[in-house]
Amino acid sequence: MAIFVDSGNIAEIQKFMKMGILRGVTTNPTILLKDGLTGGMSEIKKRTLAIAETIYPYPLSIEVTTNDKEKMLVQARQLAAWADNIVVKITIHGPDGELHNVEVIHTLEHQHNVRVNVTAMMSAQQCLLAAMAGATYVSLFCGRVNNMGYNCIDELKKTRKLLDQFNLKAKIIAASTREILNVVEWWEAGAHIVTVLPNILDGMLVHPYTKETVRQFLQDALKSEQLIVQTQVPATLKEIAPVHTGKKDVFPARL
Ligand code: G3P
Repeated sequence: MAIFVDSGNIAEIQKFMKMGILRGVTTNPTILLKDGLTGGMSEIKKRTLAIAETIYPYPLSIEVTTNDKEKMLVQARQLAAWADNIVVKITIHGPDGELHNVEVIHTLEHQHNVRVNVTAMMSAQQCLLAAMAGATYVSLFCGRVNNMGYNCIDELKKTRKLLDQFNLKAKIIAASTREILNVVEWWEAGAHIVTVLPNILDGMLVHPYTKETVRQFLQDALKSEQLIVQTQVPATLKEIAPVHTGKKDVFPARL
């Protein structure tokens, strides 16, 4: 059971790393663009290296930017060589249902020792085949599954059952969070990892009633401090208190 953050924002990633709650980061071209990354592969490399160092030794998933079979193979190996905690994201198939992606996944895992996160999956069946091809991670886009009118909990349960039943090494990443409740629900349904948007993680931590409770503690601490000050002996009373004379006290002799 682990939390990854779905972000390319270094400040956000550092914030959660310092809290000790993060075990990995996932990105994709859409996230990187949203987090201000432009300028192509040279900029992707700079950002990737910065994130990989920030979270080392935890894994960072970076997605290939092509669906051409040969180019994917070359690019995936280049990405993986940037740092040893990099995992390469490959979609389960191409935009027109091209199936060579599965061969690429298999080749990368078995011939080139590249860890692959198979992504953009919407069903347990896709996850099972990706795991059989040798994927290290299978990413089920749970929020998108729900958006299509299906229940991602069923897909998660099925995926976990199948992976365990066939003793496949892949770990399930439940992705595409929409609500704070998703994280715990998806873990309970069998996800090994939930990759969370930063604002969802903030929302998991902050509770309005906790705020009110903490406010009360702080106010009462202040009140109690003020009460101590008020009950201290006033200066006028000190003046009538006995003054030490410096003479030795005389005790009766022991009997
Ligand atoms: O990790 C997958 C995720 O980035 C996709 O999320 O919100 O675009 O469905 P979303």
